Amino acid sequence: MTGPQTTEARLVHPADPGPGSWHRDAVIYQIYPRSWADADGDGVGDLPGITARLEHLVELGVDAVWLSPFYPSPQADAGYDISDHRDVDPLFGSLADADALLARAHELGLKVIVDLVPNHTSDEHPWFAAALASPPGSPERARYVFRDGRGHGGELPPTNWSSAFGGAAWTRVVEADGRPGQWYLHVFDRRQPDLNWDHPEVRADFEDVLRFWLDRGVDGFRVDVASGLVKDPAMPDWHGPLRVQGVDADGRPHPARDQEGVHEIYRAWRRLLEEHPGDRVLVAEAWVADLDRVARYVRPDEMHQAFNFAYLLTPWRAADLRQTVAESLRANDAVGAPTTWVLSNHDVVRHASRLGTPARGGRMTGIGADDPQPDGPAGLRRARAATLLMLALPGAAYLYQGEELGLPEHTTLPDEARQDPTFVRTGGTEKGRDGARVPIPWEAGGPSYGFSASGRSWLPQPREWARYAVDAQRGVPGSTYELYRAALRLRRGRHLGRGDLRWLDAPEDVVALGNGDLVVLANTGEQPVALPGGAEVLLASDDLPGDGTLPPDTTAWLVPA
Ligand code: NOJ
Repeated sequence: MTGPQTTEARLVHPADPGPGSWHRDAVIYQIYPRSWADADGDGVGDLPGITARLEHLVELGVDAVWLSPFYPSPQADAGYDISDHRDVDPLFGSLADADALLARAHELGLKVIVDLVPNHTSDEHPWFAAALASPPGSPERARYVFRDGRGHGGELPPTNWSSAFGGAAWTRVVEADGRPGQWYLHVFDRRQPDLNWDHPEVRADFEDVLRFWLDRGVDGFRVDVASGLVKDPAMPDWHGPLRVQGVDADGRPHPARDQEGVHEIYRAWRRLLEEHPGDRVLVAEAWVADLDRVARYVRPDEMHQAFNFAYLLTPWRAADLRQTVAESLRANDAVGAPTTWVLSNHDVVRHASRLGTPARGGRMTGIGADDPQPDGPAGLRRARAATLLMLALPGAAYLYQGEELGLPEHTTLPDEARQDPTFVRTGGTEKGRDGARVPIPWEAGGPSYGFSASGRSWLPQPREWARYAVDAQRGVPGSTYELYRAALRLRRGRHLGRGDLRWLDAPEDVVALGNGDLVVLANTGEQPVALPGGAEVLLASDDLPGDGTLPPDTTAWLVPA
């Protein structure tokens, strides 16, 4: 066993010196409103439920929350299908409840980021209803992407594009005369028609939506499908990868992803944000594979941050982690943006389960009862180690509700409980995302574990979740919840989010880095490794054996002697 050589340091990223904006080193906690806390007892979480529990986030030690959509919506895609961008769905409360949430969060010192979904609307949006009621070529249709079909009678879709949720990305409408007519584009569900971002009215309306929420006091927007708004006007067929936004065999980009035209939209939004007082931010949800392409969304006159999905997809292996961390910092440093780090969200298998699979992470599309089940203890052990590594990295970090409890994916949800359109559209071949969206356990003994006083829960919670409840972990040494609290306290106290990053020499399976005077060692291998002699261990993701070694799947934060 060889210990890390802390002397041979290699600088990857310099410290962030300036006071700068709050977001550059923020820890941002994602609340999925359906599943966090239910105040009115209908089994679906809501805004008053969130407001009542905000102190949890202060106790945890995060800086900001990001709320997934709570706007009026038929809930065909759990709220990512919006019928009115300037209101609150009665399922979640009212505008007054949103105001109260903002006021309470600000009183507690928490920033609030809301979701903006500009790529598509709900099919129940008044614009889409008007488009369906109007003839081909009408101004009402021009706000969406309607096209004539191919084939003799227009019976084939205009392109071969697939929906990200499975099936075709086009649906044919029935015209007023009762005959099959044009097709409309929906990159997601058929109930989420894509907007036409070449239309000035679409642009103007979204700028107005931004102003609406800025005036109510939000601190920023997480921009859904940020890479998708603009489509190649030639609308060519696509023969490249389905989901990963790369290039096809001829080097052409996906015609509906990462088109150059999206950037001018974000430049306009940046100007709009800067016309408003306060320090407000734009965050790009851009599933773009190439980190340099992602960095183009966070150039100085565009958005402030982009989710680092490359990091989320990196398996728990030291060499892969080192490469993604270095590449992420290099790409973002080149444009002066903070790098972000994220391991879980409402669209992916929770990392406590993902890292317990033989692949130790990577891309997954849900887990069902008939699938090979993750190794729970290994997954949780790696998840805790992975989180401790992540929270030591300079930049901003995103946490997804429940990961602070070590929550696993619900991997045995009955099919009849599943609500993700992906499950239906793929005929069940993809289990979908419901397993990551199960309501949070707050109290080991309460009805629906304290999620709802009525005991209802829109997705069933697994029986064994009592042990993950907040009240079962609060104050318990070694619990995942206390690990997160300790890590966030140290991260804040030591300004790790503004720190530098140096690689330290270590065995191949160990990620060894310095951030300020902190040394971080993450052992992804199968053998214990020696800790540097005399170092003070500030925090470790699991108990250390006390023999001077760091066990497998463990991360430690140390101060060298
Ligand atoms: C990304 C969101 O995170 C996801 O939940 C949603 O289904 C799609 N965008 C479509 O809005």
